[in-house]
Amino acid sequence: MSNESQVIKHNSNKLIIFDTTLRDGEQSPGASMTKDEKVRIAKALEKMNVDIIEAGFPIASPGDFESVQAVASVVKNSTVCGLARALEKDIVRAGDALKPAESSRIHTFIATSPIHMKMKLRMQPDDVLAQAVESVKLARQYTDDVEFSPEDAGRSETDFLCRIIEAVIDAGATTINIPDTVGYNIPHQFGNLIATLLERIPNSDKAVFSVHCHNDLGLAVGNSLAAVLNGARQVECTINGLGERAGNASLEEIVMAVRTRQDVFSCDTNLDTTQIVPCSKLVSGITGFPVQPNKAIVGANAFAHESGIHQDGILKSRETYEIMRAQDVGWSDNRMVLGKHSGRNAFKSRLAELNIDFTSEQDLNETFARFKDLADKKHEIFDEDLRALVADTNWAIENEHYKLVSLRVCSETGETPAAAMVLEIGGNEVSANGSGGGPVDASFRAIESVVNSGTQLQLYSVNNITSGTDAQGEVTVRLEKGGRIVSGQGADTDIVIASANAYINALNKLESNDDREHPQLGDV
Ligand code: KIV
Ligand code: ZN
Repeated sequence: MSNESQVIKHNSNKLIIFDTTLRDGEQSPGASMTKDEKVRIAKALEKMNVDIIEAGFPIASPGDFESVQAVASVVKNSTVCGLARALEKDIVRAGDALKPAESSRIHTFIATSPIHMKMKLRMQPDDVLAQAVESVKLARQYTDDVEFSPEDAGRSETDFLCRIIEAVIDAGATTINIPDTVGYNIPHQFGNLIATLLERIPNSDKAVFSVHCHNDLGLAVGNSLAAVLNGARQVECTINGLGERAGNASLEEIVMAVRTRQDVFSCDTNLDTTQIVPCSKLVSGITGFPVQPNKAIVGANAFAHESGIHQDGILKSRETYEIMRAQDVGWSDNRMVLGKHSGRNAFKSRLAELNIDFTSEQDLNETFARFKDLADKKHEIFDEDLRALVADTNWAIENEHYKLVSLRVCSETGETPAAAMVLEIGGNEVSANGSGGGPVDASFRAIESVVNSGTQLQLYSVNNITSGTDAQGEVTVRLEKGGRIVSGQGADTDIVIASANAYINALNKLESNDDREHPQLGDV
């Protein structure tokens, strides 16, 4: 490193966590979220002490604008960021959406790789540089905190990167983010790129260097960590590694790698890691993207020991086979907490221990009523069941147009499964019947026989919330109509009821218009 102040800045012992679950994460096909869902995730990220929350891309749609505005209004302890292309209209829109924020950042970007400049932008490098500078100057009129990204930096020419970055720092950019947009880099190479930029750009000490890695080769976390070892002090990441195509670097893996290997890293994050698992479950529940069981940190098996030798070792000394403590990342010991005789106070205090808040007494009462129903069907209620109950109440949409009143299915060897149900549609009860390949198919057909939604079923998945045959099943249904994709969720000990509720939840989301066209389908 060439000068002393640079050494100080890029040797800072604080690693900034910039979460982009609500923006890049939402660009996963099928992961679009409603405004309320984004606010819930933003609050969970704030509770985890995430430094910067990228809340969306305000120019992308009115829904995106409102979501960024809503997140900016409720989040107080994290900086709220809005994405903008290096275009005046985008920056103005982002600046407007961020107005309510206590602390705001505009993140502006333009592509710098030869292929993107020639084929996508059809611009000369000097014009790209000039547009980047103008955009940063404009963004600075809205906030002192401006981030610039040379999109596809991982395939850009180093000389041009040095030129454009030096110019945007002079224009007022305070964070320089180096994206490996297409996940093309290899860790030692990406680490060298960061070291080279820090060394060659004369004013690099005036900005924090950040990285944003995609996972196309499964190297997003490796590349991000290599960058940190070479002076990057902000990492852009998402919960569960959600994101465009193969996803982004996963927040939980970055944070726990750095925390666990303090002998290697000279910096650490401010994150409350005990919020990681609850946050992962929240994002997975809302998006309908299940977490694979063997996923590091947040997978169901991440702390499970199957082999006899391992179990024996763990019983003698936990450190023989565990490098982290499950509690430190928010796994509870999943003990039986409540049963059908538990009262409202016990219920409320266990939820408080799980850090679950209620916005109103009515919410609490509704969830308690659902808990009593569940306790009638299921002997032991675990923490995970409580989390699902709360999620289920949250999944409900205000002014639901469709509601399941009752459902009866008949499934018998050699017979075609049939469903008979009563739905409430806009306040009126309607009977519906259907038959299909199985009881779930029959139920969906029964719903469609009266709703005629014109949607395509894109995904149907069931996860068990706890183990045992009386466990609740959590069902996700993804529907598409005219370019809009919504996910619906339902949880119940009866998976046919959970499935019908998930389908109805998705239809209500379509009806409510409280979400947006999938970002990849728009023109931005
Ligand atoms: O992957 C990417 O290049 C991006 C930019 C907008 C930072 O998401
Ligand atoms: Zn990205």
